[in-house]
Amino acid sequence: MKIDLLLMVFVVEIFFIVLVVWIAWSSIVGAPWVPTPINKVRAMLEFANVTSNDTLYDLGSGDGRIIVMAAKEFGAQSIGIEVDPFRILWSRLKIRWYNLGQRARVIRANFFKTTVENATVVTLYQGYKINKKIREKLANELKAGSRVVSYRFILDGWKPVKTSEDESIFLYVV
Ligand SMILES: C[S@@+](CC[C@H](N)C(=O)[O-])C[C@H]1O[C@@H](n2cnc3c(N)ncnc32)[C@H](O)[C@@H]1O
Repeated sequence: MKIDLLLMVFVVEIFFIVLVVWIAWSSIVGAPWVPTPINKVRAMLEFANVTSNDTLYDLGSGDGRIIVMAAKEFGAQSIGIEVDPFRILWSRLKIRWYNLGQRARVIRANFFKTTVENATVVTLYQGYKINKKIREKLANELKAGSRVVSYRFILDGWKPVKTSEDESIFLYVV
């Protein structure tokens, strides 16, 4: 009885230590994880007119919701780039669960150091500062005609070709 209680306290302690380390590590390495609401994910993909001819990159793919929907509902080849190992693990479980291994994958990397030159669509949910930094990379690497869809934050200096009514989704064409 006493041993059971000690074991339980130990497990709870470990859980909280892992949680604190994870939160601290996430905020040092990458942007905090605030997932795009599912209805907005669908709206972003519809906004960019994603089809099975597209190769979509989600830069900072979080729990993989954008790449999973892009592959599952829109038939696109989709690649997520993410630094957080727990979110990567969760994304890979979802990809396996939906049997999307042929169409979706996640790369554990820093998106500033990963080429996106074969993308036809790039999705973003990053802050204003990262968007500002990533603009140049996208301009250098993407082919003419590629689409960039950003949730909540504009790409300063670029003119969106379309903005959602509630001004939460911005579509750019390179
Ligand atoms: C606001 S969340 C968006 C997640 C997902 N795209 C969505 O829409 O639900 C931003 C994600 O970007 C990741 N991230 C931030 N900087 C990164 C970097 N340089 N390389 C890869 N991932 C990064 C964070 O770990 C976080 O999961």
